[in-house]
Amino acid sequence: MSASPNLPQSGAWTLETFQGQPELRQADDKPGTGVRADWKSLRLPDGVNSLRNQPLGRAVGKNIRTAVDATAGLGYDTFALALLGVEVLAWERDANVFALLSDALARAKSDDKLSAAAARIQIEYANAHTRLPTLRAKVGFSLPLFTAREFMLPDMILLDPMFGGDRGAAKPSKEIQALAATVGADADADALLDMAIAVATQRVIVKRSRLAPPLSGRAPDWTIQGKLLRFDVYRAGAL
Ligand SMILES: C[S@@+](CC[C@H](N)C(=O)[O-])C[C@H]1O[C@@H](n2cnc3c(N)ncnc32)[C@H](O)[C@@H]1O
Repeated sequence: MSASPNLPQSGAWTLETFQGQPELRQADDKPGTGVRADWKSLRLPDGVNSLRNQPLGRAVGKNIRTAVDATAGLGYDTFALALLGVEVLAWERDANVFALLSDALARAKSDDKLSAAAARIQIEYANAHTRLPTLRAKVGFSLPLFTAREFMLPDMILLDPMFGGDRGAAKPSKEIQALAATVGADADADALLDMAIAVATQRVIVKRSRLAPPLSGRAPDWTIQGKLLRFDVYRAGAL
């Protein structure tokens, strides 16, 4: 997908390897200084309690046990959900970003302090447009007593597509710049909302920048407002 003209353009980023680990680098970057996901930065001094009080934690609430992070990117939200105790199936459709996501998960699994949360994460190189409908697929099942709940219907689905307009932030981080240049504006994201609402059993959360219109123009049931971001929450009740 090509980058949107509204997203910050800062020269080409390429996937390189340094000491066996992938990173996104621009031409002038020294090996080892490229963009990788650093999930360690999410470990907060007072642990999961402060995460619960942050906007994502408040949007998730206390009753969510399983989630699909349908637009995983570098996996920060995936890992935050896992720290909150949620089991997360995470999808990423861009091969370069998926390489960074896989590397972040592998490093987290071998880090004593991150491994318990990392064990709650499964990642797939997948496109949510094709993967979401499969959660409900009845392929191979014809027994009348087999109920819908026995398919993999997650309590919650998180959507955080790239947004091409004004993000409301003074200067995008190096990570956002690298992602924006790599994957573009995710202009096809609107269709994900209805699909997600149809297969989540409790709620769908859409992460938006402060000034972005709601995904698909659909008003949320409620919103958790952060400084630069907001979480639009939609009730879902698939069974
Ligand atoms: C804004 S980033 C997500 C950042 C992420 N929440 C984090 O914490 O690192 C959006 C990502 O979603 C991915 N994406 C967009 N549409 C997708 C789709 N239909 N299926 C899978 N991945 C998708 C993009 O490739 C991009 O990497």
